[in-house]
Amino acid sequence: MSAPIALITGANRTDGIGYAAARQLAIQHGFTVVLGSRTLSPALDAAAKQLEKEGAKNGVHVVQIDVGSSDSVKRAAKEVSEKFGKLDVLVNNAALSLPPSRPEYTDAWPQKILEFTEHTRKDFEEVFAVNVFGVVDTINAFAPLLAKSSSPRIVNVSSSVGSLDFESALPAGHMGGSLIAYNTSKAALNMLTVMYSKDLPKLNPAFKVNSGCPGFTDTSFNKHIGSRTPDEGAAVVTWLATLPESGPTGGFYCDYPPYSEKNGEFKALKW
Ligand SMILES: NC(=O)c1ccc[n+]([C@@H]2O[C@H](COP(=O)([O-])OP(=O)(O)OC[C@H]3O[C@@H](n4cnc5c(N)ncnc54)[C@H](OP(=O)(O)O)[C@@H]3O)[C@@H](O)[C@H]2O)c1
Repeated sequence: MSAPIALITGANRTDGIGYAAARQLAIQHGFTVVLGSRTLSPALDAAAKQLEKEGAKNGVHVVQIDVGSSDSVKRAAKEVSEKFGKLDVLVNNAALSLPPSRPEYTDAWPQKILEFTEHTRKDFEEVFAVNVFGVVDTINAFAPLLAKSSSPRIVNVSSSVGSLDFESALPAGHMGGSLIAYNTSKAALNMLTVMYSKDLPKLNPAFKVNSGCPGFTDTSFNKHIGSRTPDEGAAVVTWLATLPESGPTGGFYCDYPPYSEKNGEFKALKW
């Protein structure tokens, strides 16, 4: 039997959650993994080879996929289709925290804050283009390939800051300076999880679509101030990507306090 195939978007950074999830899926679960990256580079090829050296026996591939571009997403789906003919797992991991056209804030975060009331429509559009519209494009482009799998899984990498329940309980001033577009994009992503989880079984009843939150993880996304390791952050992704037939769908999970008492014990967050 051939190995299951997983595509992870935004898996190019070797210190990121996407790459850690690729390592876990490849080495612990025998997947053929495809590292999605918005640019191809010798460093990306080296990152793929590194996983093979570490024990990924069923192949590590790379694909150019800029989820901010519908054309790029369609090209990537064609490439995966021609190379593998199907897909078993799609991890929507690529994301932006702040609008890239505001480098004065992205560079100086968290010291310099783009206040909520200073956000423009364009700021929201830039973040949503990747975190929400990019996921819609990617799911729609890869759904026919996933439908050919005997156990199709989609994992949307979300965040507790996208939980209305979590944010409602925070005092004013503690809602993540500069992150209003990010937080609302993750709330929208969670709604995509709910809606696709109910719709995609039309294509294949075995579909499972879930959101997972890695927790505050030490990556370049937050300038390495996170407290969890990329491996700990990726564990929920790997768990949702490898759910058995009896596993949940249409849910939102994590394995850190206050929701869960220990790593690897995955609990549902409230939306
Ligand atoms: N770190 C945390 O504390 C934390 C907490 C909760 C949720 N998350 C979520 O975890 C996921 C991974 O984040 P991370 O912490 O591992 O940070 P990361 O290493 O910076 O990963 C983000 C990835 O997204 C990619 N990306 C950005 N725009 C893209 C586009 N248009 N097309 C394709 N890829 C694009 C980046 O690529 P480039 O290298 O080209 O920029 C990067 O590889 C994100 O969804 C994030 O929201 C992280």
